Amino acid sequence: MCGIIGYTGSLKAKNILLEGLTALEYRGYDSAGISMFEKDGIRTIKAAGKVADLAKKTEEYQDLNGTSGIGHTRWATHGGVTECNSHPHTYGKVTLIHNGIIENYHELELELAATGRYPVSQTDTEIVAMLLDSLYTGNAIAAIKAAAAQLDGAYAFCIMFADEPEVIYCLRNASPLLACKSKEGTFVASDVVALIGYSKDYFALPEQQIARLTKDSITVTNDMDEVVIPKMLHVSWDITAAQKKGYPHFMLKEIHEQPDTILSTILPRITKEGIVDFTVEQIPDTIFKDVNRIIITACGTAMHAGLIGRVMLEKLLRIPVEVEIASEFRYMDPIMDHYTLVITISQSGETADTLAALRLAKSEGATTLSIVNVKGSTIDRESDYVLYTQAGPEIAVASTKAYTAQLSCLYLLTYRFALVRGTITTQQCKEYVTELRNVIPAVKEALTLNKHIDDICSNLADKEDLFFIGRGIDYPLCWEGSIKLKEISYIHSEAYAAGELKHGTLSLITDGVPVVAIATQSKVLTKMISNIREVRARGAFVILITNGEIELEASAYDYPIVLPKTPDYLTPFTAAVALQLLAYYSCVHRGYDVDQPRNLAKAVTVE
Ligand code: M6R
Repeated sequence: MCGIIGYTGSLKAKNILLEGLTALEYRGYDSAGISMFEKDGIRTIKAAGKVADLAKKTEEYQDLNGTSGIGHTRWATHGGVTECNSHPHTYGKVTLIHNGIIENYHELELELAATGRYPVSQTDTEIVAMLLDSLYTGNAIAAIKAAAAQLDGAYAFCIMFADEPEVIYCLRNASPLLACKSKEGTFVASDVVALIGYSKDYFALPEQQIARLTKDSITVTNDMDEVVIPKMLHVSWDITAAQKKGYPHFMLKEIHEQPDTILSTILPRITKEGIVDFTVEQIPDTIFKDVNRIIITACGTAMHAGLIGRVMLEKLLRIPVEVEIASEFRYMDPIMDHYTLVITISQSGETADTLAALRLAKSEGATTLSIVNVKGSTIDRESDYVLYTQAGPEIAVASTKAYTAQLSCLYLLTYRFALVRGTITTQQCKEYVTELRNVIPAVKEALTLNKHIDDICSNLADKEDLFFIGRGIDYPLCWEGSIKLKEISYIHSEAYAAGELKHGTLSLITDGVPVVAIATQSKVLTKMISNIREVRARGAFVILITNGEIELEASAYDYPIVLPKTPDYLTPFTAAVALQLLAYYSCVHRGYDVDQPRNLAKAVTVE
């Protein structure tokens, strides 16, 4: 969850580290710090707060000319948000930064206390600095290996040893760490966004291998001390894709990118005959043939995309599909075998719970297919098969374009699956593909509701509770609308199956309580209208979302959001846009930080 950057080369490290931390801030942003090799030894500057606070603090020091260092932006796990708890942590000759959680830190702390070593912070990270210092006798790699053997948990470390100037050591387990080399030196970071300004070619450090960065080389060694050549990866987008491009917030930019990102996700998988084909991604049809059960597992918004995917897969395949929250799935003793296809979905490809679910599925013999946005991420590398969402970098913590790209992949997957199993004909597949492509202009049109939704949201600025209600495929959409709103506007909201309200929750609907009623499904429209009337009769402030115009007396709602008409099964794309804008403008009207909401981080690499 934290951001990590390391650099050693010919340029001023301070600038590179601060720039890197600014790019990485979306991964964790409650405090930040940098350490550099300077003439008089390692110098560390830390600040509780944003990277801008750290940058301001560094201005007080005019003599930071070092060209090697490490930087960290923190998302607190152990210990409060204080300068002391911020990274880097130094103990003796060791200075390090860490992303992850050391689960056995307390046992290690007790053992180290017996040797007279005590921490000054409340972090698990400082214990590792102490452990390394206790094991270090001049051979850094030997000390790192000995320390790793004692650590339980997820981690990515960048480590500097005071008596080995301008060298950075790296080690990881589960948490991501990428490295690259350019003419300016060598770099390491937790995310490619911090590297792309220097090189588009990079590698992911393999787990439990140690990288040693010097000014002009990166050497990776395995546990036998043999040199390893990691597989190089290439990033296809450039630095501008990770910039705001004139939008006030990344989230708004990313919402508006959706027509392009849906197109980029769909297009390469459509043959000139107009059917879905996964030859390029080497997903063989055989994996669809023998499956008798599908499990989709993911977290948050990715899981919500999975809920929509279930509806489509079951509708066309008539195979049972379960959708499981990854953090629960792994502890529920799930039933899987060789006939189970487990689909994991993750924008970052690094979500710890989703990764653990994937590993569990593999160990039980299931076939795994992942829908991933970040190439080279751990989930990408460990899955049997991967379908990439071509969403480009998603910087705002609230996931938007990744969600509709995930939906695109799930629809494509459904069509190929159904074609292979013969539950749809080639002609039907072509028709489905055409309708899916037509969703792109509809999404474009939905974006023109921008101003209208902004106006609606001015009514929500002082609300503290809100309900989303829907039926059929609109119900999982309610979940997505609800998480988006909570996440950034801090308005408490609940997603409810509209028919379930009267079994308890209707008691909370009183005068002025906002209810977003998603009513896009003609099959259940009359039932949905009855539910809208029920909440209206209790004084609800109703925002009604429909698929094109519907017949309903104007007194039944306060504001309509009329989506461009699409086939009912495709409304998740257009409705998602409306829900994203609703969350965005609610947040703006309430004056909160859109892109970096409190307590959250973009990639959840800890359990
Ligand atoms: O990177 P992932 O897709 O695995 O992330 C999963 C969730 O943490 C993520 O979707 C989260 O729910 C979003 N911030 C919601 O907008």
